[in-house]
Amino acid sequence: MPSVRILPDIYWVGVVDWNIRTFHGHTYSTQRGTTYNAYLIIDDKIALVDTVAAPFADELIENIKQIIAPEKIDYIIANHVETDHSGALPKLIKLCPKAKVLGTQKCKEGLYKHYYGKWDFQVVKTQDKLQLGKRSLSFIEAPMIHWPDSMFTYCPEEQLLLPNDAFGQHLASSERFDDQVDQAVLMDEAVKYYANILWPLSPLILKKIEDVQRLNIPIKIIAPSHGIIWRKDPAKIINAYISWAGNETKNKVVVVYETMWGATERMARKIVEGIVSRGISVKMFDINNSDRTEIAKEMLDSKGFLIGSSTHDNDMLPNIAGFLELLKGFRPKNRIACAFGSFGWAGGAVKEIEEVLKGAGITLAQSGIEIKYVPDEKELLSCHAFGREFAEKLKRG
Ligand code: FEO
Repeated sequence: MPSVRILPDIYWVGVVDWNIRTFHGHTYSTQRGTTYNAYLIIDDKIALVDTVAAPFADELIENIKQIIAPEKIDYIIANHVETDHSGALPKLIKLCPKAKVLGTQKCKEGLYKHYYGKWDFQVVKTQDKLQLGKRSLSFIEAPMIHWPDSMFTYCPEEQLLLPNDAFGQHLASSERFDDQVDQAVLMDEAVKYYANILWPLSPLILKKIEDVQRLNIPIKIIAPSHGIIWRKDPAKIINAYISWAGNETKNKVVVVYETMWGATERMARKIVEGIVSRGISVKMFDINNSDRTEIAKEMLDSKGFLIGSSTHDNDMLPNIAGFLELLKGFRPKNRIACAFGSFGWAGGAVKEIEEVLKGAGITLAQSGIEIKYVPDEKELLSCHAFGREFAEKLKRG
């Protein structure tokens, strides 16, 4: 994709990764691809904010060359060490003999431990300012949003916030701005991104948003390092982050289960009928046929979780166990949950699920339901009642 002017003398020079389907190892499925955004600011001095992943270094360099010769770059702002934003730096910097790299102290350490380059590095802190000419850049340290090195860059003259990973989405697109794309798709990817990357960091995110609000900096455009630039309504994504980071939930239940011969699934379907009969919205997933990234997205605004598994070797099945590890890592707050499942000669899965849920700080709304072998009509009625009871507890909050 060629470079795109986003403001007078400020250009998007990033790349679109149309084909990436997993991210962060295999923890995140990126079914709509992603972008790695880098921004070139032309003034008396020239600054590049972030780079791109290493396989796309040549494309980044070509995009810069459409605007200026790379040797003219004075500053490379490294908002974040992670290699999707710094991978192209070692190749690029060879073409920028006078460029100074700017970032946090942790960024300096992290970049060195990734690339072992002896680069001219200037450590910056919150409210440090870099004058480029008519424009300036100031910096806001954002540790653990989402790495220790993370930083936001702000251009006050353009009211432009460059927050790196924050406010991003994994969404490959030929369009660059929020007013050019389908709003439902955009928000779907923004929610997914928050749930799968930022959810555990919610307390820090709320605090950082408050810090930025206290700095009283007007924000007209948010240009993150992934996906679409927010220029139509940047408040929309800020307010969404405040809601997600505040663990605001709806009267909605996500049911996730793993079933061996179908009995646990039968239980799940009847429990769901019971919940729905009380007017509560449900999303149900068989873990073996579902995208975990999507499940996490649905859980982000759900007040209730129901986790089911057949018993195998006195324990839950392995894929639901893996999913619970993921859920534990999200550190959800203000949720209620319970467990269900079938067993053959001895139970165990329900108890194990309950232990993991309690360990994750999730309140058990009621004791789990276990059924031997395949549920009969009476037991299915018990499942329905179990769902109704959970729904009523959810409504009572
Ligand atoms: Fe997009 Fe934390 O890297």
